[in-house]
Amino acid sequence: VIVPWDIISAEKSGFKHFMLKEIYEQPKAVGDTIRGLMSSGEEPPFSLKSFRRILIIACGTSYHAGLVGKFWIEKLAGVPTEVVYASEFRYGDFPVGEEDLIIGVSQSGETIDTKFAVNFARERGARTLSIVNVVGSSIDRESDYTLHTHAGPEIGVAATKTFTAQLAALYFLASTEHPDRYKLLEELFKVPARIERTLEKSEAIEKLADRYMNRRDFLYLGRYLSYPIALEGALKLKEISYIHAEGYPAGEMKHGPIALIDEKMPVVVLAPQDRVYDKTLANIEEVKTRKGKVIGVGFEGDDKLEKLCNEFIGVPPIEEDFTPFLTVVPLQLLAYHIASKLGLDVDQPRNLAKTVTVE
Ligand code: G6P
Repeated sequence: VIVPWDIISAEKSGFKHFMLKEIYEQPKAVGDTIRGLMSSGEEPPFSLKSFRRILIIACGTSYHAGLVGKFWIEKLAGVPTEVVYASEFRYGDFPVGEEDLIIGVSQSGETIDTKFAVNFARERGARTLSIVNVVGSSIDRESDYTLHTHAGPEIGVAATKTFTAQLAALYFLASTEHPDRYKLLEELFKVPARIERTLEKSEAIEKLADRYMNRRDFLYLGRYLSYPIALEGALKLKEISYIHAEGYPAGEMKHGPIALIDEKMPVVVLAPQDRVYDKTLANIEEVKTRKGKVIGVGFEGDDKLEKLCNEFIGVPPIEEDFTPFLTVVPLQLLAYHIASKLGLDVDQPRNLAKTVTVE
């Protein structure tokens, strides 16, 4: 049963900002999303494998969730998947039709670009499935099928708990036809407790924020599942602290961004022990050779990584597939603490809107 929520239930309950409260609500948002999808039997009425291709369409933070979802769908369901910005899809010439599944990802369910793009694909015969947080929103109503994230209301303009809830819904979807689904979901259920433990790093990250809050540029690097998290970390910092930040696939560093690195450049590197760990460590070495300041995010107890970095934030070790749920949390907290220390309006950053209903 989906219970509609209202603004009154959304008080700050002791937190200085909604954003911080929402960062702390992530274990619940993820847990409620998994439980909500399982108990309401929200299984899509079609097989992912029956499609030639899957296109994920979204904007902003939801686009980053889509990028993570792509890796999971390709790994667990084996269907080629592309992720497209809604604003780009609408004016491109993507051939879409009956053999395609379109997944619209939107917290609000009202983002105009996403709404138009999903409808455009539907009119051309594609099946549409949406992942939305706001029940009864336009995209929810207008799609063939919806998976709801059960994150509750999000007030901070910068999306946090709805991002990790979207990840949960995307993983749930990607795993639908996997022979070991039960086991995979059992692992997914361990995520909320590990996010809880990751949140314990908040104080250490606050101290880090003191040391780096006056830098003008940041680079965020990650590979494979950590690449979308690098993009999301950079977006969080830009949105609320107005510091220039760029997210990049670590392997692409040598094709440009490496030229930017000097002793003034903090480089946040996501290096959980996954299939690309060694490659990421090699990137850290390259940054250090150029005197960049490395803020590493990796598994607790990874002494090798810790020694290589100028700063280190450990998250609890977890299965490769689930690392994005944990590594994003320190990046949200870093952006939050920097913006808060700079005295900025964290919940309502200048020039930004929670829901963008204009083109
Ligand atoms: C705005 C918000 C972002 C959000 C994006 C997409 O830019 O400020 O936080 O990620 O819209 O919104 P949606 O509701 O479609 O997920």
